[in-house]
Parts: sequence; structure tokens; C-alpha cells
Amino acid sequence: MKILVTGCDGMLGSALMRRLADGVASLPTAAVGVDLPDGDLTDAAVAAGLVARYAPDWIIHCAAWTDVDGAEAHFDDAMAANGQATANLATAASAAGSGFTYISTDYVFDGRGRGGDPAAGYDEDDPLAPLNRYGLTKAAGEAHVGALDTPWQIVRTSWLFGDGRVNFPKTIRRLLSEREILQVVDDQRGCPTYADDLADVLAHLVSGRHRGIFHATNRGDCTWYELAREVASACGADPDRIRPCASAQFPRPALRPACSILRSRRLEESGCPPRPAWREAVRRYAARLEAGQVLHP
Ligand SMILES: NC(=O)c1ccc[n+]([C@@H]2O[C@H](COP(=O)([O-])OP(=O)(O)OC[C@H]3O[C@@H](n4cnc5c(N)ncnc54)[C@H](OP(=O)(O)O)[C@@H]3O)[C@@H](O)[C@H]2O)c1
Repeated sequence: MKILVTGCDGMLGSALMRRLADGVASLPTAAVGVDLPDGDLTDAAVAAGLVARYAPDWIIHCAAWTDVDGAEAHFDDAMAANGQATANLATAASAAGSGFTYISTDYVFDGRGRGGDPAAGYDEDDPLAPLNRYGLTKAAGEAHVGALDTPWQIVRTSWLFGDGRVNFPKTIRRLLSEREILQVVDDQRGCPTYADDLADVLAHLVSGRHRGIFHATNRGDCTWYELAREVASACGADPDRIRPCASAQFPRPALRPACSILRSRRLEESGCPPRPAWREAVRRYAARLEAGQVLHP
């Protein structure tokens, strides 16, 4: 199976390239990765050229504008990267007859939970109502993929961490080395996701050529405060140095959803092996961080 991964230098794309090097299921797999230096996907000719050159059976589109606050001030650029680039690649996939996987986000929802019940989280078919401009751009990308005439998957994930330049556990670990007490918001709840574990899920979904919308995160949910405490203890710091606070204390340019919990019914129905719990995933990543084994320490 020939797989083209976009955004291969990013947090998820790099985890996926490592995962695909091991092959998927029993299929002989050849993965090729591209990122911005290979061409800007907002240019339709570039997207078409890359797909024509590699003639993949399947495209896993991880490239994206991921600066959530930046998307408020640079909406057109964010929309080009997440909407137009996805449309360009989807058109090229259709012409080449390639399957297509689009990575999306919990931010396509309104943050109130299904039927206004935050504990209910969101199912795959719940209506989209993004709270911020980044969410709008990712929803636009979903619309292009959902209209494809070749096999497609939309895989929504949330609170991603892994071998990227910036992520929440890394930031908490750094701040713990700079300050005695950290205040972390305790009124937003979601599902942390280790990029390496998401890469396993993507290998399962792509090798099985499953179709439709899937939610894929680590198992369980928490607040940012609870996640920060777990990071602290995994890094050998006293978790009581983390104190809870309200989002209102730290206003950001982009609104954040209070409830981001993604329910993964479809993934379970697809026969995906049980996903590791988020606390275990944080500990695995923190151990690699402490050992200096990550790509961007
Ligand atoms: N990070 C999260 O917490 C999170 C949560 C939910 C969903 N997601 C989704 O998961 C996916 C992977 O996220 P990530 O955090 O791994 O992303 P990332 O680390 O920011 O990597 C994205 C890559 O795409 C490249 N890129 C951006 N615009 C491009 C363009 N126009 N043409 C070609 N390449 C372009 C970026 O290059 P430059 O770095 O040079 O710009 C970067 O290497 C994205 O679809 C994201 O929306 C992420």
C-alpha cells in the first residue's frame, strides 16, 4: 500500500511516518512524506503535482494551520491552509482514485456537549458549530472531504501531544522549571491524545480502508489542570504545585470550548484495538522527554 503523508515534519505527521515504517497490518507499505518545503498545498497545481508524482493508494493529510489563536487575526491564511489546501488535495485524490484521510478536531463543535450536556461529549454525527475561526477552517476542510467520490475518512482528534516543537506537556514541564506555582484552567474538559497512539489508530483505519467519520483520542477525559498534574508527577515534580483556575483568568484571542469530549463509538465498531488511557500515554511521553528521546526536546 503506497501512502502519501502531508505535514510529515509536524507533530502527528512525524509520528505517523515512524509508525508506517513498521508497515500496516500485514500489507507491504511504502510511505512517502511531504511538508511545506516540498510545496505549498494551498496552490492547486502543487497539490496535483505531488499526488501525480507519488501516485499513492491513500493520502493521509496531516498538514494544517494549527495556530488556534493566530487563526483569529490571520483568518484568510488559516482558511487557505485548512480549507483550500484540503480541497486541492481532495480534488487531486479524486483524479488519482486515491483514498483520503483528513485529520480534524474537537474545535468543530460548540463546546456545550451533545444536547447541552457537557458530560455527554460529542458523537461522530453531532452537528458542527465551531466556536472560533480555527474551528471554522477545519470544518471547511471536512466539507471538502465529505464530498469526495473516492473512499474517505475524517478523523477528529483533540489535545494532541508528541514530538512537536510546542505542546502542552512540554510547556508545563518547562514552566515547572521556571516557577514554583502554576495556575492551570480547570473548566475545560477534553481527551488528551498522544500522537504515537493516534498513529496506531490511523494505521488501523487506513489498512482496513474504513470509511466515514471517526473520533480518535486516548481513552478517558480530564481538564487541563488534571492533565498538568499528571505531567508534573510523571516528570518527578510535586503535582500540588499546579493550582486550578478559571479560563476567564487567562483570556485568549480564540474562544475555547468548555466541553471537548469526543466519543469514539465508530472507532470501536471498526475493530480498533483498545486505546491506551490518557494517563498512561502521558507517562510514556514524559519518560521519552526525560530521557531526551524526542525529536524536539
Ligand atoms: N495540535 C493539536 O492539539 C491538534 C488537535 C486536534 C487536531 N489537530 C489536527 O491534527 C493535524 C496535525 O496537527 P499537528 O499538531 O501535528 O500539526 P503541526 O505540528 O503544526 O504540523 C503541520 C505541518 O503542516 C505544514 N503546513 C502548514 N501549512 C501548509 C501548507 N499550506 N502546505 C504544506 N504544508 C503545510 C506545517 O509546516 P510549518 O510548520 O512550516 O508551517 C507543519 O509542518 C492537523 O490537521 C490539526 O488540525 C491538532
